[in-house]
This record gives sequence, C-alpha cells and structure tokens, in this order.
Amino acid sequence: MNSFEVPDWGEDAAVRETKPKETKPKEVKSKETKSKESKTKESTPKKDNNQQKNQNKKRKSTDEPTPAQSPTPAPTTPTKKKESKKQRAAKKKKVDAIAPPEEPASPPKEEDEEDVPAPSHQEGSKAKDLIDKMKDSLAGGKFRILNEQLYTTTGGTAFNMFSKDPSLFHAYHSGFASQVERWPSNPVDYFISYIKLCPKNKVIADFGCGEAKLSASVPHKVHSFDLVAVNDRVTACNMAQVPLKNSTVDIAIFSLSLMGTDYIKFLSEAHRVLKIGGELKIAEVKSRIENVSNFVEELRKMGFNPTHKDETNTMFVLLDFIKSDRRPNNNVNYVLKPCRYKKR
Ligand SMILES: C[S@@+](CC[C@H](N)C(=O)[O-])C[C@H]1O[C@@H](n2cnc3c(N)ncnc32)[C@H](O)[C@@H]1O
Repeated sequence: MNSFEVPDWGEDAAVRETKPKETKPKEVKSKETKSKESKTKESTPKKDNNQQKNQNKKRKSTDEPTPAQSPTPAPTTPTKKKESKKQRAAKKKKVDAIAPPEEPASPPKEEDEEDVPAPSHQEGSKAKDLIDKMKDSLAGGKFRILNEQLYTTTGGTAFNMFSKDPSLFHAYHSGFASQVERWPSNPVDYFISYIKLCPKNKVIADFGCGEAKLSASVPHKVHSFDLVAVNDRVTACNMAQVPLKNSTVDIAIFSLSLMGTDYIKFLSEAHRVLKIGGELKIAEVKSRIENVSNFVEELRKMGFNPTHKDETNTMFVLLDFIKSDRRPNNNVNYVLKPCRYKKR
C-alpha cells in the first residue's frame, strides 16, 4: 500500500487523527512576483556552498521530529508498518466493543520457557508402573536379605537385630505378605480351621506368630510370640525363652517359624510349656526338609510322638505330634535347611 491509498480505518476518531494530511495544490506564481524574487536574491550576498548546505540541513531537521522531540521513539520501521499496527489496534477496539474479551487459551509463557511436551496419560501410567516395579523389587530384595538373616542366625541374634530396628520387621512382613499372596494356600489358615474345631478351653501358644492372625481368628486363649510386637496380641521375645510356666499349654503351633539356626531350642521350649498329651503342630516349607522321616525321628528323641504327616501340599509339609511322658533327649541333629524364597 503506498502512502496515498486510504486504508480501511473505519469511523474511529483515534484513527482519523492519524490520517495523512491532504497535500495542497501548488501556487501558480505570476511573472511579476518571479522577477521581484530574483531581484531580492541578487541583492542578498551569496552564501558559500557549505553555508548553504548547513542551512538546508537545519531546515530539514526542523521539519522532521528528532527522537528527543518526539513523544514516542522515532519510528525505525517504515510508515506502512506503523500504520498497520494502528490499524490493527483500531480494529481490535471496534471488536472489543461488541465481544467480551477472549480468555487466553493457555497461561502466557515466560520468555525463556521451552516447549516441553507434557507426558501423555499413557506415558504417565507407564512411569508409575515402572516406579511401582522398582519399589517392589527393592522391597523384595530387602525381604530376601532379612529372610536369609533369620534362617542363618540364632533366635537371640535375630531378636537383638529386630529390637534395635523394628522397621526391619515391618519390611520383612510386608515382603512375606506378598509371598503369601501368591501361594495357593496359607498354612496358618489350616491351623485356624483346626483350632476352631477344638474345645474353647484349650490354651494355644503360637510360636513365631507374625501379625497374630491366628489369635485374631479364634475364640480361644492364644499366647502369640514373635520378635517384635506389631500389635497388642503379640508378646515380643525370642521364642527359645517364652514367658509361660511349664505344662500350661494344650496346643503349640509353629507355622513356618522354625527359622533360627538353633530351632531345636524353640521345640524344646514348646516341650517345656506343653502339657503331657498336648499337641505340637508344625507347618514347614517342603524344600527345607531333605528327609521328612529323619526330621520326625529327631522330634521323637525330643519327647514328641508323631501322630500325623501330610505331604500332599506342593509347598508345605504338615506334621502333628503329641507330647509324651518320656524324658526328652535334646542331643539331636539339625536337619532343616535354610529356606530361600525365589526372586519375583
Ligand atoms: C514366616 S513367618 C510366619 C508368620 C506366621 N506364623 C504365619 O504363618 O503367618 C515366621 C515368623 O517367625 C518369627 N520368628 C523367627 N524366629 C523367631 C524367634 N527366635 N523368636 C520369635 N519369633 C521368631 C519371625 O519373626 C516371623 O514373624
């Protein structure tokens, strides 16, 4: 658009002010005036070239506003651009008068803000899955370490370890709980079903009770022992020495809890607190017992008569005994192997 084209300004006053001034038609000078002028020119002394140039410059500079004179910075862009800016402003003013201001689609960006694509919903859930997997694997690793510790140290050492840092016990039990979830059956449920059928006056001792699920599931008096008391039902102790009097218990339960390297001491303690004729019930991981008959024989030496053996479960062996009135012989062989849970 050249400077003579009239842009589509609309009827806005502000816009009209900026319209270019109309150019006046050139004055037609008469011959007389011309001769007068030339005379005057001759009478005035001639300026040298430089003076003339300076004057011209001065004249020019008074016509155009200098940056200092101008209320706004001198335009560095051509008039065409300046006009189109004003044109846009004028148009916007017109539109604003009839339409409400538009909400910005998104918050204005900081100057140095980069266009980082936001993660999609799918990517977000993938990341969450990955974090969960990593957490699981860390928790699983912690569980396996603690589990191995329990199988390779004495009950006394394990008790000291968990007493100093009970959070280890919680880590162990959350790992154990995830293992149990994947088992087709949980031995403690078998014991719960059995106890429920027993007369209510039977006194139970749950050696290595964990969270005392058994006690919470039956109406009987249950003494629940473990290394850490995770709730009020549990008495914290090393089960090689439980706070019970001799011959006060009817049924002693070991559900996957013959863990320490001195597990014979736990069985010996059960013998002490059991009444003669009292029951000893054991569930143990199959892979720990190389030869079930050998294990049963060791228990016989300790004063327990075997009554029942169940090897039908693919993961566990269930063994039942009755405390005899024989004098126990605790010079027995350790035949149980440590149990190692597979990596998930
Ligand atoms: C594999 S968990 C089984 C828990 C529970 N009996 C069940 O079947 O859900 C074995 C439990 O025996 C406990 N335990 C191992 N050695 C122990 C000891 N010397 N004295 C007391 N508790 C012990 C462990 O702390 C653990 O809670």
